Amino acid sequence: MSVLIDTYGRTHRNLRVSLTDRCSLRCTYCMPHDFAAWLPSEDLLTTDELLLIIDVAVSQGIDEVRLTGGEPLLRPDIVEIVERIAGLPNAPRLTLTTNGIRLPDLAAPLAKAGLNRINVSLDTLSRERFKTLTYRDRFDDVIRGLQAATHAGLFPVKVNSVLLKDVNDDEAPALLQWALENNYSLRFIEQMPLDAGGIWDRTTLITADEIYASLSQHYALTPVDGRGSAPAEEFYINGTKATVGIIGSVTRPFCGACDRIRLTSDGQLRSCLFSITETDVRTVLRDTSKSTANKREEIAARFTKTVFEKLPGHGINDPSFIAPPRPMSAIGG
Ligand SMILES: C[S@@+](CC[C@H](N)C(=O)[O-])C[C@H]1O[C@@H](n2cnc3c(N)ncnc32)[C@H](O)[C@@H]1O
Repeated sequence: MSVLIDTYGRTHRNLRVSLTDRCSLRCTYCMPHDFAAWLPSEDLLTTDELLLIIDVAVSQGIDEVRLTGGEPLLRPDIVEIVERIAGLPNAPRLTLTTNGIRLPDLAAPLAKAGLNRINVSLDTLSRERFKTLTYRDRFDDVIRGLQAATHAGLFPVKVNSVLLKDVNDDEAPALLQWALENNYSLRFIEQMPLDAGGIWDRTTLITADEIYASLSQHYALTPVDGRGSAPAEEFYINGTKATVGIIGSVTRPFCGACDRIRLTSDGQLRSCLFSITETDVRTVLRDTSKSTANKREEIAARFTKTVFEKLPGHGINDPSFIAPPRPMSAIGG
């Protein structure tokens, strides 16, 4: 088996696969509510194409695949996709990030198909704020989705929250209390400059330090050792085994331990959320002059190239930083 090691010695084992750039919510920090610049549907990878790429990636040492988007549960054949990935020889550990809206129907079939774990995004416990933040009145669906995930045995159900100044930045302790009561594993994510509307503003960023300070007023937090390549800094809560995570992507970058590569829904490999270059694998897949063996070889070479060209860090804090042309929804969070 070959291994995807970059020039800084980082071994890549985690592939984030975006299944679509479309979403059923319009989170303000992700895309404008009237966003319409969708990828052409003929550019989206078919399920067979996805499976071939993932199989090649597994042969190069990828052992965890996270399905994301856009909203991955909008993909009509999502259960089949999970089943086929879980059925691959040397199947990777399979996780999924979702807004949760379709989970009441899909949590049990996904668990049965072989999904190992799930992350659900929820930024507020207020139905009204949810509407303001997402431009959709779907708070109750997300709550039902979380319950369905628990009932389906997708344990531990992880919840991702982004805090925005003067919108929901007063909710960190309440979100944590709610997560503890419901046995969800909560992680706060710093807002990153990845929105299609260009609204990110460093001066209004709710930082990892501020989140920690807000939680510390109500909970005793003790750092958990052994973070490895995980994006979140984890803390034990009140001396128990329960934990909360803080992902300080902007103010406490963790690029030195990054083990992630991304595949967009239109077949472009990216070495970082913030890459401004991509490596195309879709045209390799659609080249009718190539045999499957040739395609596999070429795709493997393009994974190697992507990793080889990976920069040491995301550069958000460099004066020369340029945000990537794709928004988060079209990269895959
Ligand atoms: C892009 S979404 C895709 C998956 C799915 N639709 C969901 O809601 O989880 C994945 C995660 O990225 C987060 N996200 C989106 N834009 C972000 C930004 N600008 N900064 C930080 N996190 C962001 C979302 O809150 C969500 O937790």
